Amino acid sequence: MSFKEQIIPEKLPAHIAIIMDGNGRWAMKQGKDRVFGHQHGIGAVRNAAEAAAELGVKYLTVYAFSTENWNRPRMEVDALMSLFVETIEQEQETLKKNNIRLNAIGDLASLPKENYKKLMDAIGRTKDHNRMVLTLAMSYSSRWEILDAVKKILEDYNRKKITADDLTEAYFGLKLTTAGMPDPELLIRTSGESRLSNFLLWQAAYTELYFTSKLWPEFEKEDLYEAIVNYQNRERRFGLTSQQLNR
Ligand code: IPE
Ligand code: IPE
Ligand code: MG
Repeated sequence: MSFKEQIIPEKLPAHIAIIMDGNGRWAMKQGKDRVFGHQHGIGAVRNAAEAAAELGVKYLTVYAFSTENWNRPRMEVDALMSLFVETIEQEQETLKKNNIRLNAIGDLASLPKENYKKLMDAIGRTKDHNRMVLTLAMSYSSRWEILDAVKKILEDYNRKKITADDLTEAYFGLKLTTAGMPDPELLIRTSGESRLSNFLLWQAAYTELYFTSKLWPEFEKEDLYEAIVNYQNRERRFGLTSQQLNR
């Protein structure tokens, strides 16, 4: 049986997050420069988004560029920024065909103006799509996001809109860039690294982590299905005992 056939529709994660890693290594392996790897990573994003939408996943969040990635060589950063703009424009049809709404999280104000504008335009064009939300994490890091949330909360507090007692997990969640989305049930990272690299630290408190040695440009629909099947075979206990869950 293929992995796709093994997926139990009733147990499908509503939100999948992906750390798309390994573009550089994939390119170097074949004697090409790192940017070649980023270019080939786009097809993998398209496949993953299509596969997730077809299955009925409601939210797919992909880590495209971290706050730390700004420190890469200037040439690579510039190439990535140009690639984002081109891709966003070229993939309009994919988003339309699959009824996918585009969204972005991160310190978007730090993006080059041109990128910011084109990103906002693309988001606007997909605002009525309702099959799945595809969120691009761009210039994103969890610590930035959490500090940003704390600043917003301090503002509310200073304006006497809230007291310390109002500060619940739910309220805090509303100040994060992912406000309104469920926490991801499954987080996938490619390229064999087993770390979160500053991605969704608050939201992934109880997320099932799945690491694969596949490099991002090699990641296919079947790999997504395999990750989902692996997730569905786990027991999510949330601190309870197995006996409590199976009573
Ligand atoms: C992930 O691939 C893409 C981005 C971080 C933008 P990498 O560029 O990190 O590839 P490796 O990890 O060096 O192979
Ligand atoms: C994480 O990958 C960020 C993205 C995938 C966008 P990195 O390649 O930047 O992470 P580290 O530096 O290996 O942890
Ligand atoms: Mg990497």
